[in-house]
Amino acid sequence: MAETSTTTDKPVGTALLVGLSTAVSLGLYASIHQPTGRALSTIGFTSTITMKNWLTTTALLLLLVQGVMSIRAQGTLFTAHPQSTRQNDVHQLIGTVAFALTLPVVFHCVWSLGYQTPTLRVGLHSAAGCAVYGAWAATALMPWHDQERRWIRPTVGAVLAGAFVTTWWSGALWYFTSVSWSI
Ligand code: HEM
Repeated sequence: MAETSTTTDKPVGTALLVGLSTAVSLGLYASIHQPTGRALSTIGFTSTITMKNWLTTTALLLLLVQGVMSIRAQGTLFTAHPQSTRQNDVHQLIGTVAFALTLPVVFHCVWSLGYQTPTLRVGLHSAAGCAVYGAWAATALMPWHDQERRWIRPTVGAVLAGAFVTTWWSGALWYFTSVSWSI
């Protein structure tokens, strides 16, 4: 008898595979590439570092709003109350703006600093930064409604949130509290 499979198997598997490949490729590139140690244009901030800190913090706040919207729309994490098309659009817009804000940040991290592990904090930062982009790639490709695995989107979202908070804490928050809050 032919094996029955749901139509959602492929997109979920593909999304997870693309996410994993994205995280690993970013980490490999950051490890192999010779860091340039150069600064970026600061778009009005006092330095590249302060620009990175504030862009990251703004992205974190946007992701927080997105997370609260998702949890409210779903009732609980594992119960399906699909968002309306309008809510999906707002959800995606917030995510896209947050993603765009991190692009110059991660570009500088990878191109100028590379994958570093001199301390646990910096090692965690490098790994979590790669995980953020992996989880982002997976959520972007993940189907919105998978009746059989309702837990999958919230789970990938939780990985993204955890990795982003770790990245923010080990990069921006550490700098704010140990060096300076300057803008
Ligand atoms: C969502 C992705 C990421 C964000 C939002 C982020 C954000 C930041 C911020 C705000 C800082 C502090 C400012 C600075 O020292 O320049 C920083 C530092 C750093 N980042 Fe990232 N980063 C991300 C991904 C990565 C990745 C993928 C790598 C390498 C694989 C990386 C490597 C580093 C390193 C080595 C530092 C210096 C840490 C230190 O010595 O204190 N980052 N990052």
